[in-house]
Amino acid sequence: MRVSRGVTGSLCFLLVLFGSISLFGGKRLPNPLLAPDSHGVLGTYSTAGGIDINNPFFQSLGTNGRSCGTCHISSSAWTITPADVQAKFNSTQGTDPIFRTNDGSNCPSADVSTVSASRQAYSQLLSKGLIRVSMAVPANAEFQIINIQDPYNCAETTAATPALYRRPLPATNLGFLSTIMWDGRETIFGAIPKKSINLAQSLSNQANDATTGHAQGLPPTQQQVAQIVAFETALYTAQTNDHHAGDLTARGAKGGTEYLSQQNFYVGINDSLGEDPSGDTFSSNVFNLYGSWKNLTGSPYRQSIARGEDLFNNMPIPITGVGGLNDALGQTVIMGTCTTCHDSPNAGNHSFSVPLAIGTTVYPAMTALDISGLPVYTVQCIATGATVQVTDIGRAMITGKCADIGKLKGPVLRALAARAPYFHNGAAATLTDAVEFYNQRFNLSLTPQQKSDLVAFLQTL
Ligand code: HEC
Ligand code: HEC
Repeated sequence: MRVSRGVTGSLCFLLVLFGSISLFGGKRLPNPLLAPDSHGVLGTYSTAGGIDINNPFFQSLGTNGRSCGTCHISSSAWTITPADVQAKFNSTQGTDPIFRTNDGSNCPSADVSTVSASRQAYSQLLSKGLIRVSMAVPANAEFQIINIQDPYNCAETTAATPALYRRPLPATNLGFLSTIMWDGRETIFGAIPKKSINLAQSLSNQANDATTGHAQGLPPTQQQVAQIVAFETALYTAQTNDHHAGDLTARGAKGGTEYLSQQNFYVGINDSLGEDPSGDTFSSNVFNLYGSWKNLTGSPYRQSIARGEDLFNNMPIPITGVGGLNDALGQTVIMGTCTTCHDSPNAGNHSFSVPLAIGTTVYPAMTALDISGLPVYTVQCIATGATVQVTDIGRAMITGKCADIGKLKGPVLRALAARAPYFHNGAAATLTDAVEFYNQRFNLSLTPQQKSDLVAFLQTL
């Protein structure tokens, strides 16, 4: 069945309204919690029986008025979008707690004395939903930053403490993580490092650091941390309805939050790289949500989604020059698929903690990406003298290793339609741009039909 925009729109309005009524009545929000997004309806299902708006996740625990919910908004797949940020700016003249110079502005010492100065100062947050992550280069790093092209001439952005501008990762679907943060810096491994992580401990440390960092507070209490972690790990977020395809569970399809919440995961569940010789074998059929739509006559759009899923799972990609992959396996070309790196069943992140450099940090960038506004760092490996130009130093900021420059995790690929722009730096404005990046990067020569099938599929996740 085809659901028109109008019907979906008013349905969402009613659901949102219903949500606020029950909120005033002191009840929990509906479970799943639904919200309209760019391509239909987004849902979040909580295995804790609903979303408790009194959880410390939504409370200001620091000194600058921010809560976790400031940067992790339910209706935007628990991250933020430029539209969210712009609406906040316009309704508060730039005083909402997200607008804080500690990490919201392009530069900590930026002029925010007037509304128009603030608009400039927060341009990366306003245009791409980027937060400034400033970190010190580790002592004894194998590399040094020898030049910075900084559009903001920020005094605090230095060779010792570069500023990296990153998208908040969704604070949902956390049960699928094999590594925490873009650069993995909050990951605490379990007993067998390659095979397990201690998720609760990793997320507890993360919640602590987010409160002292983003919210500029004292460490939260153990109880607050435990409540936050219990809250966020119960969340499953996915697209539930698509403007053109309708209900994503219709006719045997398995989109939406309920199937996602039942999806099994453990580190290494699908071993695309042979990381674990004694472990699981690899299946490239990572997503199996829309197989039943493949031959549905009279539903061309649903068939397109099913074709997109098939392309994602099986379309051959000659993978070259990916740091962490081609060098690690000693193979110049690896014949893979999208699922070589996005291998967690029906979640799409990397099932092992394997940071990869696919080229999203490289300067100059592929034309599909918009890296305007990002500083460019010239990084030199001390031992060899070799230099690279990047907009993010990635995992190397944690390990100090030259080999880790530009490496980031392969993130969970659910709820994409609600959270443009994409990649760690928001450089792909749309899913079409993200697909076009891969087309350019790996010389795929995708046809217009293949591109639109892939995008139609990604929008339903
Ligand atoms: C000022 C915005 C901001 C606030 C406030 C904030 N976060 Fe985040 N969050 C981010 C950014 C940016 C990242 C990614 C940073 C990186 O990877 O370097 C992130 C990453 C995360 C992740 C990692 C998810 C993953 O896939 O690895 C979790 C979990 C998270 N935040 C939870 C929280 C919690 C809990 C709080 C409150 C205690 C909080 N955040 C407050 C911006 C924010
Ligand atoms: C060689 C490994 C690799 C392959 C192959 C690969 N990806 Fe990715 N993908 C990644 C990594 C790593 C990231 C994170 C990069 C970043 O944020 O800068 C990513 C990010 C993404 C994102 C953005 C997610 C977000 O939260 O912003 C999308 C969408 C995506 N990939 C889709 C695809 C599609 C479609 C294909 C096949 C055409 C594909 N990927 C093939 C490794 C890979």
